[in-house]
Amino acid sequence: MLRKIFFTILFLIPFSLMLYYGKETFYIDQQAASEQMYDYHFALVTEEVGNNYWRFIEKGAKQAAEQHNIYLEYVGPKVTDTDERLDTLDRMIAANVDAIITKGMSDPRFRQLVQKAKEHNIPVATIDTDNETSGRDFYVGTDNFEAGYLAGKTLIEETEGEQKVVTIIGLKDAQNQMERLEGFEEAISQEKRIELVAVAESNITELGAADATYQLLKSRSDITAIFGISALDGMGIVQAISEFQPTTSPYVLAFDILPETLSLIEDDKIQATIAQYPEEMGKKAVEEMYQLYQNDQPEQIHHTKTGVIMKEDLMNGEVFLKEGE
Ligand code: BGC
Repeated sequence: MLRKIFFTILFLIPFSLMLYYGKETFYIDQQAASEQMYDYHFALVTEEVGNNYWRFIEKGAKQAAEQHNIYLEYVGPKVTDTDERLDTLDRMIAANVDAIITKGMSDPRFRQLVQKAKEHNIPVATIDTDNETSGRDFYVGTDNFEAGYLAGKTLIEETEGEQKVVTIIGLKDAQNQMERLEGFEEAISQEKRIELVAVAESNITELGAADATYQLLKSRSDITAIFGISALDGMGIVQAISEFQPTTSPYVLAFDILPETLSLIEDDKIQATIAQYPEEMGKKAVEEMYQLYQNDQPEQIHHTKTGVIMKEDLMNGEVFLKEGE
């Protein structure tokens, strides 16, 4: 019996090693072969691989990449993680890709990596969030201060009487979030009846936004409006309101037009959202990067559209574009 077990183990070890390395070699060969078919290899370094907002950026980027025979690699952490994102950038530089498109970061190591990429002749574009001091080649995305300002104006126009507002912010160290908050504060500073009373962080997750909102509703009974500053915050805010059941439902202002947010607008759970166009961002960034390779110096800043979406702008769960838009 012991002999049998011994021989089975003896057989299994080399057999599993063969399977493992065989698969790895096959995978690497396959990847190398697919890269060879393309003219360029661009890396799109995301904030979170599975985040639906980033999936829209990927979708647009892939469409443009296809048109120019570019191999577009979409990489990054599963859930938001500064160190992992920086490591991914470093890995892409080491892989000697032809271009990097990434969310700008305020961490000083980001600047160092942009410089490192440039030393390797790899152009870098920021997308969705800028860091203009990093030395990146260009930025494609929303004018985040203006978008926040638009949110503030919307709250002024859509509410009456005294308002105590809380905001749920994705991450406090993200430049786009801070710019949106600054724009929002600037707009409401013109209206005495509206006061921002608290800011809490969601860590860009729906659950984080729900927790933060719940705590705020518990700690103060005077909240009349809640503004969610990143794409999943609106959904979390609604979840917390339905659990907490405040006597009067606050006015909810969200960010982005993910399908879940639009359906909550249709259900009157969210009153308005600030639209960004991530698919356009992805397309434009790849397009401009491609132009850079054709020796066309791109402009430093490419702002994509923003807008306010309310129930009247929706039809069957989608944004219904008005004439001329
Ligand atoms: C922001 C992104 C962020 C995403 C998170 C969007 O509103 O523009 O920077 O990664 O929300 O869900």
